[in-house]
Amino acid sequence: MPLTYFPPTITDELGRQPIESAIERNAFSRGKEASFREAIDGVLVADLARSFGTPLFVFSERTLREKAKAMREAFRSRYAKSEFAWSFKTNHLDAVCQVFRSEGWIADAASGFEYAKARRLGYAAREIVLNGPAKPRADLERAMAEGALVQIDNWDELGLVEDIAAAAPAPVEVGLRLLVDTGIRPMWSKFGFALADGEAERAAARVVRNRKLRLHTLHTHIGTYILLPEAYAVAARKMLALRDAIEQRHGHLVPCLNLGGGLPSVSLLHGMAGPAERAVPPVDAYADAITAVLKALPAKRRPLLRMENGRHLVDEAGYLVTRIAAVKGSRPTLSAGGDLAGLAYKEQALRGNEARTGYVLDAGINLLYTAAWFRIEAMPARATNTAPTPVRLYGPLCMAIDVVREQAELPLLETGDLLTLYPVGAYNSNQSMQFIFGRPAMAMITEQGKAELIRQAETLEDIAGLERLPGHLGTV
Ligand SMILES: Cc1ncc(COP(=O)(O)O)c(C=O)c1O
Repeated sequence: MPLTYFPPTITDELGRQPIESAIERNAFSRGKEASFREAIDGVLVADLARSFGTPLFVFSERTLREKAKAMREAFRSRYAKSEFAWSFKTNHLDAVCQVFRSEGWIADAASGFEYAKARRLGYAAREIVLNGPAKPRADLERAMAEGALVQIDNWDELGLVEDIAAAAPAPVEVGLRLLVDTGIRPMWSKFGFALADGEAERAAARVVRNRKLRLHTLHTHIGTYILLPEAYAVAARKMLALRDAIEQRHGHLVPCLNLGGGLPSVSLLHGMAGPAERAVPPVDAYADAITAVLKALPAKRRPLLRMENGRHLVDEAGYLVTRIAAVKGSRPTLSAGGDLAGLAYKEQALRGNEARTGYVLDAGINLLYTAAWFRIEAMPARATNTAPTPVRLYGPLCMAIDVVREQAELPLLETGDLLTLYPVGAYNSNQSMQFIFGRPAMAMITEQGKAELIRQAETLEDIAGLERLPGHLGTV
């Protein structure tokens, strides 16, 4: 008898899936009822598709306002001097930005383009902070002349700002962007002046000594989808220590601390255990962590707190309505009383990828940049009487990498069926690309439950109209 003992291998395979999916992984179980989303804020998905076509981005005004209200209350109830800037880069649709503006948000612009978009929407320049690591001189000149707050990212930019300020009629308020190690890994090292090695203090000293500049803000953006509220407390403590040092050495108390964005939406990365509501801390936990640090200061020394969020506020307000253009692969036919869930799992276990059913959608990674990291949930728009089974969700591009979900749990659906992909409100519409297809229509469901078009589907003229043909190549 062999004496070597091999302990059983215990994998975390199940642990990485939502609890409910354990039911589905039992090949002998009948599975569970397939969920479906028939309507968004009371408007039937089928009606949306009929009115605006598919694919279609849909935004819920009600959710946008609920998220704004919850964030405002979480922070202001704890710390009255809280202010919020809407991150245009996360979603710069006019309708979305205007909702935040009406909720009292100022604008966080990351380029001259976003700055101009904010001005066009009616934001006063003093209601805009200008971010970004590569601001051209012309953008800096405009922002500084109009009175926006430039958050300086690097030495080259500081040099430009000093140069522009030298010719300005009055001193110009600026912010400094800091690189702060909060313990989050990987650490974003691209942005700002490093706090740890004294670089930030040297930059601050240069600003404070310049009589044409006023140091208004210390800023950091520690990353996105940050699941640890404590990381913000670490950032706040470290930034306050720099603020103290600046005051001691130069007699200037910096009035504002900007802790950037990064709060998560209720969503899951690939491979994370769910449900998302359990994995993602509520906004109150972040407000607690940050404001506790600020409230420890004597009242007179407390700074204005600015937050610059995107994802947390808009992701859950965004849906993508898509249609199944084709069904691929084999799928066991359902006989009366048959157990499709069990069959499909067994078949897949035996034959692997070959057995996989795939739905080819009319929306893919051209519209869903974040699908690479996030497990975007797919739901049919109608009830079915079949249990969910594993399928792959392909996009419409002629590229093998165009896969929205390697494996989603969906009931038996047919070509022409509608699905909603959710949550997709953050970054996707802004980062969508005109690759093979133009960008689709975008709609908003108003608080009154009316579906309004907020961006038309792009036409050939919108895209090709920008092209110019050299004379010797003919005319179009
Ligand atoms: C400077 C700055 N502020 C705010 C944000 C918004 O981040 P999030 O969408 O994670 O809230 C970003 C995003 O990259 C950013 O770069």
